[in-house]
Amino acid sequence: MDAFIAKLPKAELHIHIEGSLEPELMYALAARNNIRLPYASAGELRKAYAFSSLQDFLDIYYQGMSVLITEQDFYDLALAYLGRAAADNVRYAEIFFDPQGHTARGVAFETVINGLLRALADGERLFGIRAHLIMCLLRHLDEDDAERTLDLALPYKDRILGLGLDSSEVGHPPSKFKNVFARAGREGFRLVAHAGEEGPPEYVWEALDVLGVERVDHGNRALEDKELVRRLAADRMPLTVCPLSNLALCRVEALHQHPLRRMLDLGLNVTLNSDDPAYFGGYLNSNYQAVADALGLGRDEIGQIARNGFAASFRSKDGMTKRG
Ligand code: ADE
Ligand code: ZN
Repeated sequence: MDAFIAKLPKAELHIHIEGSLEPELMYALAARNNIRLPYASAGELRKAYAFSSLQDFLDIYYQGMSVLITEQDFYDLALAYLGRAAADNVRYAEIFFDPQGHTARGVAFETVINGLLRALADGERLFGIRAHLIMCLLRHLDEDDAERTLDLALPYKDRILGLGLDSSEVGHPPSKFKNVFARAGREGFRLVAHAGEEGPPEYVWEALDVLGVERVDHGNRALEDKELVRRLAADRMPLTVCPLSNLALCRVEALHQHPLRRMLDLGLNVTLNSDDPAYFGGYLNSNYQAVADALGLGRDEIGQIARNGFAASFRSKDGMTKRG
């Protein structure tokens, strides 16, 4: 099965570029930028990666991304991810980035976007992998901050595929961002949001009905609501499921209990993704292999999930497809 998965052409639709920052690169960038990190070495830092909740992880994730200062740092980060993804036979990726995690530290939006876009162009040339960017809003911040971030993105709107919503979920429902999502939709951004990772099914309803998302990131807790499951199945709404993330953040105790099996049985449109691979112990093939082993998935199911990834993407033959 491992060889089958390795050979399978795959799309990745849920990857936070800042979550692909491996400790070794983090330490190299810290040295380059004269930043002191609180752990003695990359190995010591890795040992601190033991999380019991999303917030536990996010605290370390925001601290880690503070080594990203220059355009070259963002370039190096994204090119490293693209190389790893290409080695997993990922042919196409839609990549999240968190501009507010950088602008709040005084790094200009232009610095972030120029580094990432240059890496995407080189990644296609060097590794043959196509990729686009989805800008995520941090939901623990307020909607005014989100609106200002969308303003910063508008000059680049032809080069940013979509808008997403991430960070601390509980207490920050999608409806908090109703206006900014409506404006982004009018500006042509494709819309997605994290919902039902830790938050209740109501947040998934809101992502669909208040924000008008075209994909739900995670969506695990939707299974607690039968009517919601019916809706997701009827709409063929894609869910970007991230098994190793769910395990690392204690959303499941063990992978054999992962809801993916039930999602498939319920006819949901699931895709597999790595979320924050540098923190959760594996890139895309590791996620496929982990669920194939733990849930006893066969080649037909694995192949179907990989096809779902391409079908749920916003790609088109000649570039990215914005909303018309
Ligand atoms: N930001 C990076 N990874 C995230 C996740 N799994 N959930 C919410 N926000 C995130
Ligand atoms: Zn995520």
